Amino acid sequence: MPDNNKIVVAIDGYSSCGKSTIAKALAKAVGYKYVDTGAMYRCVALYVLRNAPFSLQQGVDEAWLQDRLAGIHISFALQPDGSQHTLLNNEDVEKQIRTLEVGNAASQISTIGFVRRAMVAQQQAMGADKGLVMDGRDIGTVVFPHAELKLFLTASPEIRAQRRFDELVGKGEKPDFNEVLADVRDRDYRDTHRTESPLRQAEDAVLIDNSHLTPEQQLAEVLTIFNNRLNSPAANN
Ligand code: DC
Repeated sequence: MPDNNKIVVAIDGYSSCGKSTIAKALAKAVGYKYVDTGAMYRCVALYVLRNAPFSLQQGVDEAWLQDRLAGIHISFALQPDGSQHTLLNNEDVEKQIRTLEVGNAASQISTIGFVRRAMVAQQQAMGADKGLVMDGRDIGTVVFPHAELKLFLTASPEIRAQRRFDELVGKGEKPDFNEVLADVRDRDYRDTHRTESPLRQAEDAVLIDNSHLTPEQQLAEVLTIFNNRLNSPAANN
């Protein structure tokens, strides 16, 4: 049963602009569920990379993938420290899905219409009871076009590349900054130019440029917007 006091918060934006950081922080602060939809596309990509020939230019054999899609089960498991891990057919793949290779494959595979439709149906089911913060590329435009609160995040490509670079270094990888920047730009291009549900700001989304905001400043701003929305009469329509 949907809880009428709760809302759906849709967060969209470019890659590496901190969507999941703010989405997780907001969900924690207000006691909502959090769903990282990028992780779902990454799981499909990891499955493909493990089981089929794949290249960024050629993609994957779509007939092969269509046959197997029903056998790709994605779920989320809450960890004792409060974090969430992504499971692919019950295997914890949280670490494996966060590489550049899987991110690039996910960006390619997420252009396939039947993959998107399958993911969107699962995402909509997760939001049926409200009380949800979901982040991705098409949450405010396709998954929950009637979400009570929509945020669209952005930051400059250089700042996003630096964040991604630092994250990869933190994981023990040795990235090249220019490659990471080129990758950010390529991914932006693919995400905004694909035919199926391209990334775009919903008309009623609040734009937040976090290039020069600390995570704490951003959370404070988002909580103010959230509370205003919750207290506005239109929120529970
Ligand atoms: O947010 P992310 O980097 O984990 O997402 C990985 C890829 O998945 C990204 O290139 C675009 C795609 N994606 C999408 O098309 N739609 C979503 N709702 C979420 C992610």
